[in-house]
Amino acid sequence: MIIDTHCHLDFDQFHADRDSVIERAEKAGVKYFINVGSSLEGSRKSVELASRHDSVFASVGIHPHEADHITEDTFTEIEGLLRDKKIVAIGEIGLDYFKKRSAPDKQKTLFTRFIEISKKRNLPLIIHNRDAARDTLDILKKNGTHPVSGVMHCFSGDEKFLGEVLEMGLHVSFTCNLTFKNAKRLREVAKGVPLDRLLLETDAPFLAPQAYRGKRNEPAYIIELRDVLSEILNVSKEEIEKVTTDNAKKLFKIPG
Ligand code: NI
Repeated sequence: MIIDTHCHLDFDQFHADRDSVIERAEKAGVKYFINVGSSLEGSRKSVELASRHDSVFASVGIHPHEADHITEDTFTEIEGLLRDKKIVAIGEIGLDYFKKRSAPDKQKTLFTRFIEISKKRNLPLIIHNRDAARDTLDILKKNGTHPVSGVMHCFSGDEKFLGEVLEMGLHVSFTCNLTFKNAKRLREVAKGVPLDRLLLETDAPFLAPQAYRGKRNEPAYIIELRDVLSEILNVSKEEIEKVTTDNAKKLFKIPG
């Protein structure tokens, strides 16, 4: 049994075959999905998707790419969405200085504001960081809980960054990019993640595993990630499934 802790099944890429995508994943062993909101529209759709499928939970948040376009009305609607019972996290939120689609100052303000919301609602964070490690950690240290409840999603970075992330109390998740031929360095870093902090995610439709590289990713492919982690960490596939499922249930308070 597997939990895909980060996917975007609300995206248009799944418009034509969303139900069969969910079915295929369930056949592959995925019992629960956390559909992650990355915009106001996406958060709305995540909540809606979760209401239609018992196996889908929702996360509400706004990606740093959107930071330039946020108004007070956005937050009014976010607060409304947060009343839904299937919301298990705040995210994805964070900083992205790689694409810099929004001004860094606006990104920081948005990130901080969502951290405040997460504290008020007692919900864990799903954090996006790209080329902004220093500022991400500083903001979390200054504004987050201690330890920080949440996950550094699609982890990228070196051993030093991993050490700081773990010290703050965060969980770590890798996507199927860990299976890429050229991800040797990341696989080395992954060896340093303790089992009790590890989560699985696909970030579908993005980052399909090596075997399907360049194509649409979907939650059924999460077994490729499980398999590579089993190799890297030298534990059985069953053990990877068990610990990551236990971790996800605890962090996101998923019942059952
Ligand atoms: Ni994502």
